[in-house]
Amino acid sequence: MMEKRKILVVFGTRPEAIKMAPVVKALEQDEHITCRVAVTAQHREMLDQVLHLFAIQPHYDLNIMKAGQTLYDITSRALLGLRDILQEDKPDMVLVHGDTTTTFVGSLAAFYEQIPVGHVEAGLRSGDKYSPFPEELNRRLTGVISTLHFAPTTQARENLLREGLGEDNIYITGNTVIDALLETVGDTYEFQEPALKKLDFQGQRVITVTTHRRENLGEPMRQMYRAMRDIVREFPDVTLVFPVHKNPAVRALVKEILGAEERVVLIEPLDYQPFVNLMNKSHLILTDSGGLQEEAPSLGKPVLVLRENTERPEAVKAGTVQLVGTSYEKIYKTTKELLSNEAAYEKMAQAVNPYGDGQTSARILEAIYHWWGWKEEKPQPFSR
Ligand code: UD1
Ligand code: UDP
Repeated sequence: MMEKRKILVVFGTRPEAIKMAPVVKALEQDEHITCRVAVTAQHREMLDQVLHLFAIQPHYDLNIMKAGQTLYDITSRALLGLRDILQEDKPDMVLVHGDTTTTFVGSLAAFYEQIPVGHVEAGLRSGDKYSPFPEELNRRLTGVISTLHFAPTTQARENLLREGLGEDNIYITGNTVIDALLETVGDTYEFQEPALKKLDFQGQRVITVTTHRRENLGEPMRQMYRAMRDIVREFPDVTLVFPVHKNPAVRALVKEILGAEERVVLIEPLDYQPFVNLMNKSHLILTDSGGLQEEAPSLGKPVLVLRENTERPEAVKAGTVQLVGTSYEKIYKTTKELLSNEAAYEKMAQAVNPYGDGQTSARILEAIYHWWGWKEEKPQPFSR
């Protein structure tokens, strides 16, 4: 008889919640596992939107977010809060996701309590410790601490092997974001939001934009927004839709440069469902987000990534994602080219799925079974 075991899933921001929701659902349905959720609430409103959509009620909520929080604030508040939760809850395993400060601190607290950590979305590397900042190091440090590594792709597994991690504890699972995406997007979807209902997707080419990276705050963001402003001015059939991240530093710049432009629709962060359906109806995506680089390719939407490098090279190789950096010149020129040259656009607008097949959370569950000795075989690796 298998003795029931307890897993504590820890997350704190919007993307972690989206990508952990399918895992939480899979764990909750398993009769041999007790699943609990602890949120640091490094994000508040943007996290709550996701918890609500996926009907996740956290058992613990540290509510740490403060306006304009620094890395020191997040790290220290989350670490002390998680100490108390772990000492009370005493789980058999902690699961963390990705590369946020909550991720790293969640793994560190579990290590201090000598509880094994499973790292979902392990092994992505940009190779530059300051970009994305602080995510590249958060992810590497979490990798060092973790016992189980759920690598989305073969490349991610290779990155981990290169750093000396043993192959027995690495599972190639795909990315859970595709599980979440496939259950949320639909061609017949109709928007409820007045700003989106009004959009003319037939007569206008909609460009969806998101930005938030810490290393892009200030001058890089200024350049991005100026390039977008000039593109909209030049192409009367282009509308920019920009759900603006809650970070006040991002908001101030967006408002200053794009606030008064015609055909620029600035809106609050969208719920996940309208957001992915907005991507699905868009012509093009401009973003510095990580998750969008994984979602948009499977929808066949070209993505221009407003960063100098990426830890997600698979879609770049496949051709749907292009790195354009953060200079005005390059962003303006590349966007203009894609809007003017149909062949160049069509070449990028191919649906590719290097990141998953919708079965990732099931594989992660199987991998945990395997590691606990409940199942002999390793799960079949995800492959494309
Ligand atoms: C964080 C993560 C980043 C992730 C991103 C996803 C770190 C260091 N950064 O960056 O890896 O890609 O989330 O969006 O872990 N705010 C609100 N309400 C919210 C969310 C944020 O008001 O629901 C505001 C607050 O003023 C907060 C600021 O945004 O201080 C920045 O939030 P923070 O979590 O520090 O950084 P992000 O840029 O969101
Ligand atoms: N997203 C959302 N509403 C929005 C913008 C983005 O639900 O208004 C989703 C998006 O589909 C993706 C995730 O949020 O799954 C990406 O989050 P973000 O860009 O904040 O973080 P990153 O992926 O860069 O860590």
